[in-house]
Amino acid sequence: MKTIITGGAGFIGTNYVYYVLSKYPEEQFICIDKLTYAGSLENLEGALKNDNFRFIKGDIADKDFIFKVFEEEKPDVVINFAAETHVDRSVVDPEVFLQTNVIGTGVLLEACRKYGIKRFHQVSTDEVYGDLPLDRPDLFFTEETPLHASSPYSASKASADLLVLAYYRTFNLPVTISRCSNNYGPYQFPEKLIPLMIANALKDKPLPVYSKGENVRDWLYVEDHCEAVDLVVRKGKVGEVYNIGGHNERTNLEVVRIILKELGKSEDLIRFVTDRPGHDKRYAIDPAKINRELGWKPKTNFSEGIKMTIKWYVDNEQWLQNIISGEYQNYYKKMYGNR
Ligand code: NAD
Ligand code: TYD
Repeated sequence: MKTIITGGAGFIGTNYVYYVLSKYPEEQFICIDKLTYAGSLENLEGALKNDNFRFIKGDIADKDFIFKVFEEEKPDVVINFAAETHVDRSVVDPEVFLQTNVIGTGVLLEACRKYGIKRFHQVSTDEVYGDLPLDRPDLFFTEETPLHASSPYSASKASADLLVLAYYRTFNLPVTISRCSNNYGPYQFPEKLIPLMIANALKDKPLPVYSKGENVRDWLYVEDHCEAVDLVVRKGKVGEVYNIGGHNERTNLEVVRIILKELGKSEDLIRFVTDRPGHDKRYAIDPAKINRELGWKPKTNFSEGIKMTIKWYVDNEQWLQNIISGEYQNYYKKMYGNR
């Protein structure tokens, strides 16, 4: 069995590569990644020591490249993690989100159609459903919730989901989609809330909280997401969507306070800054379907998971430093300089 994992040098993809390599030593895995700012080969150093793992640098939106890889490798399964993923970047420059997330997914689907495939799995997000109001804690996203994306990022992911489902209906391509809530854990790029706050707190820099910090996200430890994706790929029903989440809702301010407390830093570091345009209020997943049909539920609760995550960033200070000392400085100035 040969699986192509796209975007395997990024946050969730890296965690997924290590998850499957330890679980399926007899199978073949190939990672395709463009190595954008968000991906790093350093993440896969350990994985590259395995004979059953290979890395190929390339762009999922490059049709000639992707078709050549499919022709040579004849994969059984393709799992598409590759994407532009940061909402704030999509507000500043949406174009690359359309290129990678929509066109890139389209190219992969065409390659699957041409060369044949046992399964194409699209790693999607709960953000395709839009947001829920803060004053209705009784509402959750189910797989039947209409797509109602808010940002260029989530709109591009929703478009990709529609394409994937169209390839099932029109061409009978054996596809599945998973839509997960916010992940946290090792290897997450420090542009996202949790690693950004850990990185700043470690350096006693201000922690920029958008608006009043009242927006709610539903947090899941990355390894639980990896386990769920693997289950959907192997046991999920073709043509179906599965929501992934663990009923762990927190306001952003709660999360930031937990990080500060864990690191023994003062709440005086918190700075309330101008809100993100179109900022989604609340995300909350109803995971009943994956629980009922595939028996999945998360193993790591938030208090354990956040401790493990903080410890990973403290233990891997050089990893963080390598990112922070480069182009990231310009990004940070541009995004937070006048906020
Ligand atoms: P990430 O930004 O950390 O990593 C993305 C990876 O994709 C990087 O390695 C990057 O180099 C690669 N990539 C980008 N454009 C590419 C292209 N054109 N061709 C090949 N590779 C390319 O992202 P992540 O947080 O690991 O997210 C992975 C997937 O999971 C995405 O599809 C995202 O939408 C989805 N998702 C993420 C979360 C989350 O909380 N992070 C939650 C739900 C779903
Ligand atoms: P983020 O990690 O970007 O994920 P997403 O917006 O895709 O859910 O942001 C999580 C929440 O944290 C979101 O409500 C925006 C907020 N946030 C801040 O308050 N400050 C920050 O510096 C960042 C990056 C995010």
